[in-house]
Amino acid sequence: MDFSKEILKMKKEKNCVILSHFYQTADIQDIADFVGDSLQLSQVASETAADIILFCGVNFMAETAKILSPNKKVLLPEPEAGCSLADSCNVEDLKEFLKNYPDHTVVSYVNTSVGVKALTDICCTSSNAVSIIESLPENEKIVFLPDRNLGSYIKSITKRDMVVWDGACHVHEEFSVEKIIELKKKYPQAKVLAHPECKKTVLILADKTGSTAALLEFSKKDECRQFIVATESGILHQMQLASPQKTFIPAPPVDSTCGCNDCKYMKMITLEKVYNTLKNESPEVIIDFDLIEKAKKPILRMMEMSK
Ligand code: 13P
Ligand code: SF4
Repeated sequence: MDFSKEILKMKKEKNCVILSHFYQTADIQDIADFVGDSLQLSQVASETAADIILFCGVNFMAETAKILSPNKKVLLPEPEAGCSLADSCNVEDLKEFLKNYPDHTVVSYVNTSVGVKALTDICCTSSNAVSIIESLPENEKIVFLPDRNLGSYIKSITKRDMVVWDGACHVHEEFSVEKIIELKKKYPQAKVLAHPECKKTVLILADKTGSTAALLEFSKKDECRQFIVATESGILHQMQLASPQKTFIPAPPVDSTCGCNDCKYMKMITLEKVYNTLKNESPEVIIDFDLIEKAKKPILRMMEMSK
């Protein structure tokens, strides 16, 4: 069966919008109505007139779409599509941790569960983290979670009083400094693009650090013709589409046999699963009403500040 053709037909009949994160495979990105970073996808999810949102991404992204559009049917083709970073901070451990910091403002990256968001004052994504932190009063004490790398990156820029949770992403932690240096020798003109979830030792080598959308934008506008890309490999599809004359080289992980520049959760979504999900209108993202109300506040605060 030609899944792409059938999906495109069905999504019209059902008034469904398909959203895809940049880390999805190229075939999924190509059938999506909108491809973006986590902030952009949240914005589209909150504004769409569609009856159904089919989210090609991971659990926390689909949950954020449901929280922003609770009356819509939000479908996620693979409920097991989690996130190692979100998993590195669970609700019970966080409650214990926060007892030590009663006078702190809790800023959470959106890569968190709904339960963690319910304990959060304000959310952020990698594209607005610096501006969200800078918008807080200068003497504000902050707990930032769950990513230690993004946390230390923001701390180094904003110089704010921040306690950072010790979590990390299995993809971004794995990029090899030595192999990036080797690539720089092979391609001396190349610029290094890195997501702030990478370790500090990688970010030091970066010519541009930013969210997936920011890295894509930089690759389009910069005059350089070769880029070493230290984030999940799916982003290379949009980079190459936007700049076919440029060369994009994926930064290698420490262990090249593990395919660690692929997010195993993002890559659980396939065209066949998208087809079946749309056909059956299942699996659907269901969140308890009270939890939606609690998790909505920090997300709306972020959305308001990101307009
Ligand atoms: P972006 O917010 O840059 O899309 O990143 C999301 C993510 O999961 C990075 O690993
Ligand atoms: Fe989570 Fe990392 Fe995958 Fe992003 S790349 S969704 S942070 S596991």
